[in-house]
Amino acid sequence: SKDDLILPKDFPQLLNDTFLRAARGEDTEHVPVWCMRQAGRYLPEFRKTREGRDFFDTCRSPEACCELTLQPLRRFPFDAAIIFSDILVIPQALGMNVQMVAGKGPTFPEPLKEPEDLQQLQAKVDVSKELDYVFKAITLTRHKIEGKVPLIGFSGAPWTLMSYMIEGGGSNTHSKAKRWLYRHPEASHMLLKMLTDVIVQYLLGQVAAGAQALQVFESHAGILGPVEFKEFSLPYLRDIARRVKDKLKEAGEDIPMIVFAKDAHYALEDLSQSHYEVVGLDWTIDPQSARERTGGKVSLQGNMDPCALYAPKERISQIVKKMLEGFGKKGYIANLGHGLYPDMDPENVGAFVDAVHQHSKQMGAQ
Ligand code: CP3
Repeated sequence: SKDDLILPKDFPQLLNDTFLRAARGEDTEHVPVWCMRQAGRYLPEFRKTREGRDFFDTCRSPEACCELTLQPLRRFPFDAAIIFSDILVIPQALGMNVQMVAGKGPTFPEPLKEPEDLQQLQAKVDVSKELDYVFKAITLTRHKIEGKVPLIGFSGAPWTLMSYMIEGGGSNTHSKAKRWLYRHPEASHMLLKMLTDVIVQYLLGQVAAGAQALQVFESHAGILGPVEFKEFSLPYLRDIARRVKDKLKEAGEDIPMIVFAKDAHYALEDLSQSHYEVVGLDWTIDPQSARERTGGKVSLQGNMDPCALYAPKERISQIVKKMLEGFGKKGYIANLGHGLYPDMDPENVGAFVDAVHQHSKQMGAQ
């Protein structure tokens, strides 16, 4: 009902809306910039706050999530913040056990093996209860951020979550998860639909809690080919945007949504017509051809190779300049093509942010 979406209005006034304007394709004085995984292990203060505490326990502490979200903003003039959390809180809410194992990454001790295992999932999960800790973290952060920049909420996309739930962790081939698509297509659609329903509620809950933009991570798009993507990913990505937007519209809200389907260059045209305002790009796509292929229908976000941050600062500045010229100034949000790595030098992250601001200010209106 409408009442679920009455938004808290007592948040501090937003002082920098550059990111939101760029997401909507409006003119900006400079190109806004943020980094995927900007709250992460490359920051010593992040490692200190995370020290001696389980990863998902940290995710369940609104105070810790708020602190970790704000840390990168104290160092760098980012134009947006993303709430510290993880995409795997959804499988947990559905009743699965997920652990973060040091040196190995996310691990499911009992992954889904066969379609019968779907019966063990809590299909009718009460999102407002099970994921309440994320909503609390968002509300707290929205207050503590003092209007400096907008706060982005996020979710994993159905296929990416499904692949984790079946693989039980990271994988090179994702062959266990892909086996389902070819051998159990009906059960696959059942699971994807179940995840979609939860994700829609989860994203709406994040907006009600104070998120000012939403990003959907289809991190495992590249493991699918164009045919499988069209059947098992795209319809659900579209459904999520459509349903979230319809609900928000009823409540008189308009929140920009970003879709980041990593390595899905084959689907760029489709992604630009899937109801998202912004399409996030990995570094395998040339900026200018991405513009041509999306035909000005959407804003674009990305896409410097994260490894370019290993270059000296002057080189980073040149790479950024070229990237900005390729994308053009309007309807563009600078970012990396994927997340920051733990061994990256915070100084070079600062150089990246400064280069985006400086070069884009010199570009003039377009
Ligand atoms: O700063 C931010 O980007 C916000 C927080 C954020 C995290 N995870 C924190 C995190 C976001 C947006 C995510 C999303 C996420 N989580 C994705 C989608 C984005 C992508 O990378 O493609 C995925 C696939 C996950 C699953 C996941 N969680 C992985 C693969 C890992 C890395 C494991 C490892 O050991 O390297 C995590 C852990 C994780 N999530 C970390 C952070 C900062 C690092 C672990 C730690 O802090 O101890």
